[in-house]
Amino acid sequence: MNLARQIEQYLPQQLLELVKDISGQAAERGEKVYLVGGIVRDLLLGYPNFDLDLVVEGDAVKLAQQVAETSQARLLAHRRFGTAKLRYEKFTLDLATARKETYARPGALPAVTPGAIKDDLIRRDFSINAMAVSLASNDYGELVDPHRGKSDLEHRLIRILHPGSFSDDATRILRGVCYEQRFGFEFEAQTARLLKRDITMLDTISGDRIRHELEHIFEENRPELVIKRLDELGVLQRINPSLKGDSWIAEKFDRARHLKKPAQLPSLYFCLLIYSFSERDIERFLARLNIPAKLSRAMRDTLRLKARLPLLDKSSLKPSEIYYLLREYELLAIQANAIASDEKEGTPSLIVHHHLQLFLTKLRYVRTSLDGEELKRLGISAGPEMGKVLRILHKAKLDGEVRTRADEKNLALSLKARDFPTDPEPPWE
Ligand code: CTP
Repeated sequence: MNLARQIEQYLPQQLLELVKDISGQAAERGEKVYLVGGIVRDLLLGYPNFDLDLVVEGDAVKLAQQVAETSQARLLAHRRFGTAKLRYEKFTLDLATARKETYARPGALPAVTPGAIKDDLIRRDFSINAMAVSLASNDYGELVDPHRGKSDLEHRLIRILHPGSFSDDATRILRGVCYEQRFGFEFEAQTARLLKRDITMLDTISGDRIRHELEHIFEENRPELVIKRLDELGVLQRINPSLKGDSWIAEKFDRARHLKKPAQLPSLYFCLLIYSFSERDIERFLARLNIPAKLSRAMRDTLRLKARLPLLDKSSLKPSEIYYLLREYELLAIQANAIASDEKEGTPSLIVHHHLQLFLTKLRYVRTSLDGEELKRLGISAGPEMGKVLRILHKAKLDGEVRTRADEKNLALSLKARDFPTDPEPPWE
């Protein structure tokens, strides 16, 4: 089978020229370049994908160095792994030396030696990801498909390449479910059996790798489908017994997508995922996945704030009271609680939701019109006095007691007249 027509049709002209140039330079070095993995699968499915992985039968790092010298590309090479990244203005290309892999023990990173394209394909996760397309001029577009990936695509099947695949690398369990839901495919019967058998092998996977796969899942258009399926299969519970993929999660993830930019969504999904956790659950989860400090703070804050939501359940609260209550929490935690508290009835109440929304859409942006310089001109001295005046102005602005610059000026002047240097803290703090 030849995919030259699909390559020419789907890849942007500029990208195509880059790839052909790389292949031409490889040929001069006596090497051969292939498109490989997800891009081949997506070419066959007709899905847009400009994330190109190239495999070189030869030395990918040397080839990439040579290409970088003769083009505008920026090079990022990992000699130890035989991989290189070429960054162009609009595209990034990943090059890897074709390699053979052996696993010393389940879950470990594999030992790697240079190999041919077929060695490189057999070490991969699923048959639909284990295809390559030659870019050499003598057989340009020729499909290399030793594991019947194309037939599995046609039958909408996800199949591992050998029975030890999931135990070699149990992240493939998460990856497989992700493909199943993304494409609406099914696991081939033997693969489904082995997946269930090897769920316990997730215990051999490091926290960073599990977290990385969850982040990958959170980049899907509808990650809740993947999470639900992982729940049904018992995979989520293996990562943490309190994780759930129920209809509550599905609804909240959907709402999150309407509110947040894609780049920030994964962190928000993490905060929603642990919404029903106890303090003990969350600490276990953060440790198991080695969650970085900033996200850990947001996830802990999500639960801390959830516990304090009853304080927001009073319609008589002033805007400044809402502001001072919420400002100590990470923004993500407030957003997660706003999404989680969006209930039509029951608790948390609509008032709580309304107050959280008010903070997110309005209160957190409120600033005084007057700044320190202007206050100095009004005769207020820098230091603790100015700090207090600024806080009083800010509070008055939050509560709508001052609206214009002139209001602020009048208030500032009246405060100046008042003698309050010994006043310890304003009464609202
Ligand atoms: N791969 C693998 N086992 C893994 C991770 C990756 O065999 N645990 C292989 C697969 O062949 C995959 C390729 O490495 O196609 C690249 O991995 P990745 O970038 O994660 O996948 P893509 O196919 O590029 O992206 P996606 O499938 O999500 O579209």
